[in-house]
Amino acid sequence: MLSKMIKMVIVLAIFAVASNAGKYDKQAQKDRKALIKYFEAKFEDPEKNRNNFFPYSTDKELKENITKGLKHHDFAIGNYAFSKQGKAQYDEIKEMPPYEEFIEKGEAIYKKSKVLQKCFPDTKISGEYPYFDKKKNSVITLSVAINDCVTKAGEKKLNLKKGKIAHIEAYFADQSKQAGKKTNIKINSKKAAEAYDRGKKYYYSQRGYLKLSCASCHVQGAAQRVRNESLSQLLGHTTHFPVYRLKWGAKSKTSDGLGTLERRMAGCIKDEGQVPPKADSKEMKELLYFMAYMSNGMKIDGPDIRK
Ligand code: HEC
Repeated sequence: MLSKMIKMVIVLAIFAVASNAGKYDKQAQKDRKALIKYFEAKFEDPEKNRNNFFPYSTDKELKENITKGLKHHDFAIGNYAFSKQGKAQYDEIKEMPPYEEFIEKGEAIYKKSKVLQKCFPDTKISGEYPYFDKKKNSVITLSVAINDCVTKAGEKKLNLKKGKIAHIEAYFADQSKQAGKKTNIKINSKKAAEAYDRGKKYYYSQRGYLKLSCASCHVQGAAQRVRNESLSQLLGHTTHFPVYRLKWGAKSKTSDGLGTLERRMAGCIKDEGQVPPKADSKEMKELLYFMAYMSNGMKIDGPDIRK
């Protein structure tokens, strides 16, 4: 009798642990599904949806430059998903992608480094970052993981926005892409769920004298124009980094044009009139955790090009 009861308690305990693991990402799953629904509804028919979603767009823009009827995975390529003009230019550049050399550079760095090979025996890992590290009680982004790896071995600290780290990430992204990997972010503890919540809060908080949040531009504002740019949607924002941009001084001494997600976000936060948090700060890591979770299930497609 007693042993039967003990067995029962053990079975119940195991069940409780198993069901808890699914519990922590309940809200995040809801958020992700709602976001997909929102963007699919928004782009179903922009001309018809003008009052709900595109209050400042001109008739011409809605009719001629926005692709309609987009579905979840179509959103992966940023504003090229809906911008007809942008997409034509993008396809042209993709015929001779300017980032190939960076993948090769990253591969050479990796293949020469015993340290990197030891920390990252598997190179098809871009979709697994950021993750929440229970022991460190912190979100770990891929940039932070690579930097931790080399500094622990006594090597020089890396710039988390460009240069070597961007090359290594280009190689990992390409490897992940070739293997058909998808974004696969997990939230499996209470602390992880709290980190996700803080990242989400950052994303939706208005800042600066303009009172802009990331969401003002990349959720509500997606597909509208800011100066000469069409605003891209949050969905798919993390799947294709690092990116190559002409704007990032392809020919300057300090940058070869390739940059990490952290570099891109720092630019947007500056545009909000704010001083961006450091690439390895808690705020930046948690913001990335939230954003990457929103792209769960979407294919890794980096490196890529952007205007
Ligand atoms: C005033 C509007 C505005 C705000 C606010 C803003 N961004 Fe952006 N963001 C842009 C523009 C313009 C671009 C370039 C065009 C595009 O891809 O959307 C861009 C690009 C990006 C990209 C690259 C997209 C891609 O396809 O590669 C990311 C990622 C991004 N923003 C994240 C953020 C985050 C995170 C925040 C909040 C901290 C934020 N942005 C706030 C205007 C904004």
